[in-house]
Amino acid sequence: MTEFVIGAVADFPDGCSTAVQAGKRTIAVFRVKDEFYAVNNACPHKGASLCEGEVVAGELIVRCPWHHWNWKLSDGTLEADSRQALRRYQIFVQQNEVILVA
Ligand code: FES
Repeated sequence: MTEFVIGAVADFPDGCSTAVQAGKRTIAVFRVKDEFYAVNNACPHKGASLCEGEVVAGELIVRCPWHHWNWKLSDGTLEADSRQALRRYQIFVQQNEVILVA
């Protein structure tokens, strides 16, 4: 595992979704209020870019832009079938920097 400094907290305003590169991986980073979430950017269904999906902030869900599967940001599982899950990554803030572990 490697820690990647992906930017300052101010680079990720509340409600933002962005794809970042961490080595060979493309990871979708979401900020909802003061919490950060990081998951593999490619939807396991057909590979859509999840950072382009709609974030339903109140339910902590990202809705895939292609076929509208709802993924829970809290634990990465699919809302309709918890046996399916996104790969999640540790992400945290340290001294105003956002750090992703991948
Ligand atoms: S590609 Fe995401 S739901 Fe189909």
